[in-house]
Amino acid sequence: MDSIFILTGAGISAESGLGTFRDKGGLWTRYDLSRVATPEGFRADPALVHDFYNMRRKNCLDAAPNAAHAALARLERDHPGEVTLVTQNVDDLHERAGSTGVIHMHGELRRALCAACGHRWPAPERMLPEEACPSCGRPATRPDIVWFGEMPYRMDEILERLARATLFVVIGSSGEVYPAAGFVDEAAAQGIPTLEINLEPSGRRGLFDRGLYGPATEVVPRWVAESLRD
Ligand code: OAD
Repeated sequence: MDSIFILTGAGISAESGLGTFRDKGGLWTRYDLSRVATPEGFRADPALVHDFYNMRRKNCLDAAPNAAHAALARLERDHPGEVTLVTQNVDDLHERAGSTGVIHMHGELRRALCAACGHRWPAPERMLPEEACPSCGRPATRPDIVWFGEMPYRMDEILERLARATLFVVIGSSGEVYPAAGFVDEAAAQGIPTLEINLEPSGRRGLFDRGLYGPATEVVPRWVAESLRD
């Protein structure tokens, strides 16, 4: 069966007004990732880390899905085969555009996680470090985000789905963060055709069979139309 595996990154949400990480003015040019995106940073200053994700959660709530998110939802709906959508993004714009079963390998802004017992629940708009876990009662509330040094979620399932893909596509990612950056090597090793869609060729362009370049809101709908042959 025809099976399209898509990995998205911050570039797909850029035109919705959510910043990317490594472009000019990106989040990691303005914030020290070791302070806001590591378990050590959280232990050192939980309030600072909560402030950072509260700000990002608010930006996400204020943002709307764009034409690229909508096109992927349409692909899932109209493609006769399987479509797997794995995202490195912690926003919920794919879901709000209509995609279902999205795999959030780096966690989700809209979820909270208890660092003490592992319980997960819907995050309030503003999370506070002293908030108690609704399950165990301990004040160990953290955003359900995968930080540097932590293992991304659902890796076994992701690799299983990648192994049965007939096309591997990356949209809006610089390919700088592993293990996601290594998926293209896995796909190539298995002989799966690979496509990069990005604003411009990424540093990993040479690993892809094909590239389509320009703003995601223009290129992704065009590629989806081509894939659905309409
Ligand atoms: P990056 O910021 O590293 O890369 C974003 C990519 O999107 C760049 O290659 C841009 O050229 C491209 N881009 C920007 N605007 C675009 C547009 N309008 N249309 C298409 N492409 C566009 O973001 P990611 O690769 O997603 O992890 O970053 C990967 C991970 O690094 C994130 O999930 C996050 C971060 O640290 C964690 O926080 C664990």
